[in-house]
Amino acid sequence: MHVIRVLFVAGLLLTLLLADAAAAPDGEALYVEHCAACHRLGGQGGIGLPLEAGKLANVSDDYLRKTVRVGRPGRVMPGFQRLSDAQVDAVVAFLRTQTATVERTFAEAPVPGDAARGEAVYVEHCQRCHGADGSGEGEGTGVTMSRERSFLVMPASISNRGFLASASDQMIRRSIVVGRKGSGMPAFGSGKLTDREIDDVVAYVRAFEIQAVEPEPLDADQRPTHVYESPYDFETTVENVKLALTGANFRIFPDRLLEQGLIDEFSVNTRQIGVRFCNFNVLYGMLKIEPRLGIVLPCRITIMEQPDGQVILVVPNLRVISRWFNNDELVGLWDRMEESFIEIIEEVTL
Ligand code: HEC
Ligand code: HEC
Repeated sequence: MHVIRVLFVAGLLLTLLLADAAAAPDGEALYVEHCAACHRLGGQGGIGLPLEAGKLANVSDDYLRKTVRVGRPGRVMPGFQRLSDAQVDAVVAFLRTQTATVERTFAEAPVPGDAARGEAVYVEHCQRCHGADGSGEGEGTGVTMSRERSFLVMPASISNRGFLASASDQMIRRSIVVGRKGSGMPAFGSGKLTDREIDDVVAYVRAFEIQAVEPEPLDADQRPTHVYESPYDFETTVENVKLALTGANFRIFPDRLLEQGLIDEFSVNTRQIGVRFCNFNVLYGMLKIEPRLGIVLPCRITIMEQPDGQVILVVPNLRVISRWFNNDELVGLWDRMEESFIEIIEEVTL
């Protein structure tokens, strides 16, 4: 009787344990699914920075959790807002097991440095790698992507708001003191800089946060396209658009009728045309900032003659589209491009 009861209790416990194990998120599987493509299976780094023992031993779990959550807006590292807290914890726990490290915790207290003095230290010792604005030399980071030959891995962006929101002062200080072995980030602790200089440069790095500009919010009624009416007939409008684009240094591709390829060629409406154009320098610049842009290249103005003869122009609203990418740098660039689009259209429809 007693034995049976013990067995029963043991069985119950086992069931509970198994159920618990099934419910707990699998950190390794999550890592493989969400991180390995960029950071590689063993964390050697690729498109993403290396996540190896030397680095992880010097960062807190809080830093890792926040980094996964907010990512690096405007850089390649995404923010994983949809993962549950338990899933984020499981990924972090997996990183700890994989690297056989335990977290290093840091005091909350800000580093008592002086940012104004720190600027001189930064210019002399950091700027050549991290750039004047802290965002690094290239637009991405990692071992393979856009890496210059002089770097083992591209420097991380230390002015990125995702980084600054994740890293405490004391953690930034430690990164500077011990450096990052195997990546080219020197250790400044052993006599290269004094304690005071290190404090000052931490304060300078922290001050990047204040300079970071949030993108201007959009009016709720903004749509992804603008529609304009042309005072001219179809041919004149098409001609004017092309002249204005060429004048603004855009290269124009052969015309494409809107319905071309979609329906048989005798029914194609030749009074609807998409003028496609491009400025290759701007385009390459954009792709460096945001590789996903390949899908929605914005350089097209659609000109349509409506049944009543009114000609309309449909232009992408770059202010809206760029914000789909959660990429500050892109938003800035497209806001400027948007202005030049509007200038062109105003010139054409005047
Ligand atoms: C699309 C590629 C990509 C994916 C997917 C990705 N990362 Fe990253 N990750 C990066 C890049 C690039 C950086 C460097 C950030 C920068 O540019 O400054 C980075 C940086 C990091 C950092 C900061 C490293 C440091 O040196 O402080 C951590 C931690 C990190 N990623 C963890 C993860 C985890 C965990 C996942 C999965 C949940 C993940 N990443 C998914 C590309 C990626
Ligand atoms: C020779 C180039 C080089 C110099 C000089 C340099 N860094 Fe770095 N730094 C890097 C690289 C590369 C990384 C990324 C290392 C990695 O994650 O493996 C990095 C990473 C960092 C990080 C951690 C960022 C993160 O995402 O984890 C901080 C903070 C930092 N550097 C600050 C500084 C400061 C401050 C100075 C000057 C006192 C400095 N660095 C000088 C190349 C450099």
